[in-house]
Amino acid sequence: MNGRDGGAVDGFLLAYEGFDSEAEGLREALTSTGNGYLCTRGAAEWEGADDVHYPGTYAHGGYNRETTMIGGLPVLNEDLVNLPNWLVLKLRIEGEDAITLEDVELLDYRHEYDIRNATVLRHLRFRDRGGRETTLTSRRFVSMADQHHAGIEWTLVPENWSGHVEVISALDARVSNAGVARYQRLEGRHLNPISPRTFGPEVIALKAETRQSNLYISQATRTRVFRGGESLPAGRTLDQMEDYIQQVLAFDVRQGEATRVEKLVAFYTSRDPAVSDTLMRAARSAARHSDFSAAFDRHSAAWEELWRTCDGRVSGNEQVQLLLRLHTAHLLQVCSPYTADLDAGMPARGLNGEAYRGHVFWDEMYAFPFLNVRLPEVARGLLMYRYRRIGEARAAAREAGFRGAMFPWQSGSEGIEETQRVHLNPLSGRWEPDLSHNQRHVNAAIFFNIWNYFQATHDHAFLENYGAEMMLDIARFWASIAHFNPARERYEIHGVMGPDEFHEKYPGAQQGGLANNAYTNVMVAWLCDIAAKLPSLLSASSAEGLRARLSISGDELALWQDMSRRMFVPIHENGIISQFEGWVDLEELDWDVYRAKYDSIQRLDRILRAEGDDPDRYKIAKQADTVMLFYLFSDEELREIFERLGYGYRPDTAARNVEYYDQRTSHGSTLSFVTYAGVLAAIDPESSWDRFLVALGSDVDDIQGGTTKEGIHLGVMAGTLDLVQRHYAGAQIRDSVLYFDPRLPSGLGGLSFRVQFREAPILVTLNSDLLTLEVQPEGASHEIRAGIPGDVRELCPGDRAVFELSQDRA
Ligand code: BGC
Repeated sequence: MNGRDGGAVDGFLLAYEGFDSEAEGLREALTSTGNGYLCTRGAAEWEGADDVHYPGTYAHGGYNRETTMIGGLPVLNEDLVNLPNWLVLKLRIEGEDAITLEDVELLDYRHEYDIRNATVLRHLRFRDRGGRETTLTSRRFVSMADQHHAGIEWTLVPENWSGHVEVISALDARVSNAGVARYQRLEGRHLNPISPRTFGPEVIALKAETRQSNLYISQATRTRVFRGGESLPAGRTLDQMEDYIQQVLAFDVRQGEATRVEKLVAFYTSRDPAVSDTLMRAARSAARHSDFSAAFDRHSAAWEELWRTCDGRVSGNEQVQLLLRLHTAHLLQVCSPYTADLDAGMPARGLNGEAYRGHVFWDEMYAFPFLNVRLPEVARGLLMYRYRRIGEARAAAREAGFRGAMFPWQSGSEGIEETQRVHLNPLSGRWEPDLSHNQRHVNAAIFFNIWNYFQATHDHAFLENYGAEMMLDIARFWASIAHFNPARERYEIHGVMGPDEFHEKYPGAQQGGLANNAYTNVMVAWLCDIAAKLPSLLSASSAEGLRARLSISGDELALWQDMSRRMFVPIHENGIISQFEGWVDLEELDWDVYRAKYDSIQRLDRILRAEGDDPDRYKIAKQADTVMLFYLFSDEELREIFERLGYGYRPDTAARNVEYYDQRTSHGSTLSFVTYAGVLAAIDPESSWDRFLVALGSDVDDIQGGTTKEGIHLGVMAGTLDLVQRHYAGAQIRDSVLYFDPRLPSGLGGLSFRVQFREAPILVTLNSDLLTLEVQPEGASHEIRAGIPGDVRELCPGDRAVFELSQDRA
């Protein structure tokens, strides 16, 4: 991978020279193109799914459930479905077989992702078996300006020959979910064919249906050929089956002359509004599609507008700049203004692959801080995805014997628990029980996200109509899963697990779950304080209505308040917070032995289990768990929470805990690098920077040995943006003030980015000495309060405020 600066694509280009079959899957995931509605992997148009290539298209909400019999037992999984392949475009020269990368001699090959325009490009020059040399340039985008449109443009130049070619343009529903090797034994067929159709001489279309969820998906395409700006008449023949349709365009090409092929596609599903028959809708839309260049210009203008809001500039490191932009683009490809209107959550692996089956976890917690202050309507849309599933969350709580709403650890179409109960350990080849659904902390994350969305936007309408209801029902759930221990005179929570997935239960225990996960208990103490005060933040009529609807009594509010003061937090020697109760009794692992024995010990759980050992026995963590607290809250906030609980909080509590857990964490989830980079920003800037660079490179460098090809890690990508904003720039909203408490690492000379705080657009510029806030004249008419700790100012539209940063902070 290299980023090429200079020229037209300054700091916005991910480029690969030469074809590498080993790396192709990774490149496909990283060069996926999407628009927040659908996303397609950066596979070459002419290649089908095999060990090297995997064309995959995924749309928000396109889920389907299938059952597989494993060991005689039914295993039910809901997957984000690989939708029909709309890419297919193949070249036949002089009647020979269609060109594939394997069959030709590549004289030149370049695969690029133009980050600015979310466009995938391939430039190849090849010699075929007949000795003909041809240049083929392909450009492809999924439109950010026309939600249902995408386009491919080919430019063909015969270098040393003239002759006859055929271009096959197809839509292919003969696809399955086969992108993740670990899932191979699980049912991968999700589509049933409905019908192919043609509409006039140019448009072909295909309709398919998901097998269980009965989602209709239709695609239609119009393919045309041009030379020298003129349309070139091409012979057209048609072949169709129930799940495949192709049009073959035949024409002559001349040595040294460029011929362009445009394949423009329309895509609809039965989840879309304003649609009767998806097939007709797609066909009409494809027929009306403008030409490639006009469609691309609109798309490009839409991205330009997004970059105006979302681009962050860093000085001092071009590679960092490039990767932050890459991460921004991928976040926007999955969570764009279109997403706001869909019933969509944020799948942990984006819409770029099939790992984790397109499920929605807690990873969105790393994306909200970025979205809240740039695209608040998108953040709101993601929260609405949760709200629409509150009924299932309530049922889940009830069925588990609790009250309130218990959102699932893994969420899909309906908001029921989608976490699988058995998981394949690729090291041992064994199916092992998976108890990770006990990560109830996702409910604290949802509460946290709603609260912080409200802090950033002051969107009272959302809070009163939806947010508060979720928050209150989440608090109610926590109050019911907690119990009061009279011996301690504190509230405890048993039977859950924290983010660290190495510990699902106590060693040797039959039952899953742990007692008093510190991260969970502190989050609960924090959220109970807010929940108890929440009705007072709403208008009197809303508060009254909500309390009546949810039957919230004064006693319940008092209970939450009591929990905010008396949650139990296990703390062992010298202020080290125990990850959970009983952690101190676990054995220390001899890390050096494992480091010496294995190339990577990130997934120590799999290693230990494959060796017949049990990760539950050891003081080891997959990822930041207790340390998450220091990532999410400032020291000041944590001091407040801990002091309210009657526990001490020392100036070195963060540093001591971070150091302690760092020595015992394998970072088996790359989210952990983001978290550690964040918490270390104020403690050990050098080390923070090192972790930041690891997180930043984790997908492009595929540091987990092959997982990125199964889908990008969107939480980590978003997390790197969050880290820059909340830890390096130190942006935080507290008591209606936008604070900056910058901790710029020496690797960063300066930063500048835009945020929107309570409707006021602000340009933030930061270097090691100065912070400048410029409130843009457009936008809000009201003043806002912003500044650095100890210097908060009231700023009106058009105001510019400069803050001198003390050297020890910067
Ligand atoms: C991590 C979780 C994360 C999930 C999806 C897991 O490996 O442990 O924290 O939510 O991946 O990204």
